[in-house]
Amino acid sequence: MEAEPRGRHAPVLLAETLALLAPAAGQTWIDATVGAAGHASRIAEAIGPHGRLIAVDQDPAMLALARSRLGGYPVTFVHSRFDRLPEVLSELNLESVDGLLADLGFASDQMDNPQRGLSFRHEGPLDMRLDPTASLTAAEIVNTWSEDQLARIFWEYGEERYSRRVARRIVEQRQRGPFATTTELAALIRRCVPRRGSIDPATRVFQALRIAVNDELGALERLLAALPTLIRPGGRVGIISFHSLEDRRVKYALRDQRYWQVLTRKPVVPTADECARNPRARSAKLRVAQRIQA
Ligand SMILES: C[S@@+](CC[C@H](N)C(=O)[O-])C[C@H]1O[C@@H](n2cnc3c(N)ncnc32)[C@H](O)[C@@H]1O
Repeated sequence: MEAEPRGRHAPVLLAETLALLAPAAGQTWIDATVGAAGHASRIAEAIGPHGRLIAVDQDPAMLALARSRLGGYPVTFVHSRFDRLPEVLSELNLESVDGLLADLGFASDQMDNPQRGLSFRHEGPLDMRLDPTASLTAAEIVNTWSEDQLARIFWEYGEERYSRRVARRIVEQRQRGPFATTTELAALIRRCVPRRGSIDPATRVFQALRIAVNDELGALERLLAALPTLIRPGGRVGIISFHSLEDRRVKYALRDQRYWQVLTRKPVVPTADECARNPRARSAKLRVAQRIQA
C-alpha cells in the first residue's frame, strides 16, 4: 500500500461515487468542483463523445490543470463559484442537467502550495483564497475583524474550544504589527491552544479562517437551494463533504422528499485501505440522491 505523493490530488471515493452516480453515454453532467479532474475524467469517459461535461472551479489554476487532463473529451470549462450555477447554465442555454458532482473543499495541490497560505505547515502569506480574484483574504480577517467576530468564526467554523482566548491574543499581538504569514499565526495559536493527541493545535483555527475567507458554508447552502432546478427529474446528485458543518447541510437538503429520493441511507465513507493510501480521505462522506418528478 503506497501513500499518495504530496501535492498530487487523489480523488476520494472514486469507485463508490461513479457506481452511485452512474453517468451514462450521451448525458450532460456538471462537475461543480473539477479540481485535478480525478472524478471528472471518469465522468467524461462514461458520458463519451456525445455527452457534455461542464467543468467548474473557482480556482483558475485548478481549471488549467483540469484542462490539461481532460484533453480530447467534450468539456466546457467555467471559472465560477458553484453557487452561480443557475446563471452559468442559462449562459450556456441549458435548462437542466442529468447529474452533478460536488467534491467540496480544497485540492492537495492548493493546500501544498505555500503561496496559497492554506497550510500552517508551510510559511506563506495569510491568503487562503481558493479564488485568487476574490477580495477577502485571511490577513484582512485576522488583522481587522473584531475580537468577537474572530471568536465567533473560530467557534462556529472551527469548533475551537479556545476560540475566545485565541481571538484575544490575536488582537493583543496585532497591536504590535499586523500578521503577515501563516507560520506567525500558527505559532501564536500553538502558544494558546493545548495540544490534543496528534492534531496540530492550529488546525481548527486555520479551518475556520479558510471557511470564512471562501464563504464555504454560504456557497454550499446556495448550491443546495438551487439543486432542484439544476437537475432534471431522474437525474442524480452526489456531494462529498469533509466536515460535519457541510455534511449536516447536505443531509438536511437531500431529505426534502418533494425533490429527492436519497440513494445513500447512510453516507458512504472510504475503506481503511483508501484512508491508508490517502489520509485526506479519512473524513470524507458521500451522499447521493435522485431527483424525483415534481
Ligand atoms: C476536493 S477538490 C476537487 C477534486 C476533484 N474532484 C478531483 O478529483 O480532482 C475541490 C475543488 O473545488 C474547488 N472549489 C471549492 N469551493 C468551490 C466553489 N464554491 N465553487 C467552485 N469551485 C470550488 C476548489 O478550488 C478545488 O479545486
